[in-house]
Amino acid sequence: MTRVLYPGSFDPVHNGHVEMVETAAGLFEEVVVAALINPSKGGGLFDLEERMALLDECFEHLANVRTTMFDGLVVNLASEVGADFIIKGLRAVSDFESELQMAQMNAAISGVQTLFLPTASRRSFLASRLIREVVRLGGDVSDMVPEPVRLRLEGRLGSGPESNG
Ligand code: PNS
Repeated sequence: MTRVLYPGSFDPVHNGHVEMVETAAGLFEEVVVAALINPSKGGGLFDLEERMALLDECFEHLANVRTTMFDGLVVNLASEVGADFIIKGLRAVSDFESELQMAQMNAAISGVQTLFLPTASRRSFLASRLIREVVRLGGDVSDMVPEPVRLRLEGRLGSGPESNG
């Protein structure tokens, strides 16, 4: 059985991530989707518990996908969950440089290898940072994120009751 770990910030999860997980669920026996802290991205909008709750809602239809969250090195999580590989999505060449460097670092410190999967070109512009920005400024992201994520984002950033501006 091949189990893979798909780590990310997921702040929040968007349709590019959903596509990756659905693809991986068809390729591997088990997929563990994990929300982690990206130290280079600052505090973030949602805390890890909120990000994982959204991951749970988005992937409950996939029997071989489970979700978790972790505050630490991704390679330690890979070992904890018994992952054979880490998987990462590539949207464009611009992703490749930093992803290659992380893959090489992770291999150097633990031996775990990273497999890259391409994102469909129609979703290659999706980025959580831009989605947050569009919602904050009143734009429509309903084609870009699952419905529970849209509602949560608009509640937090839009004019809804949960909004904090
Ligand atoms: O969605 P992102 O922000 O591209 O995901 C990056 C993430 C969270 C996978 C990466 O920052 C990470 O692995 N963080 C955990 C800390 C860690 O292991 N750092 C060393 C990476 S070489």
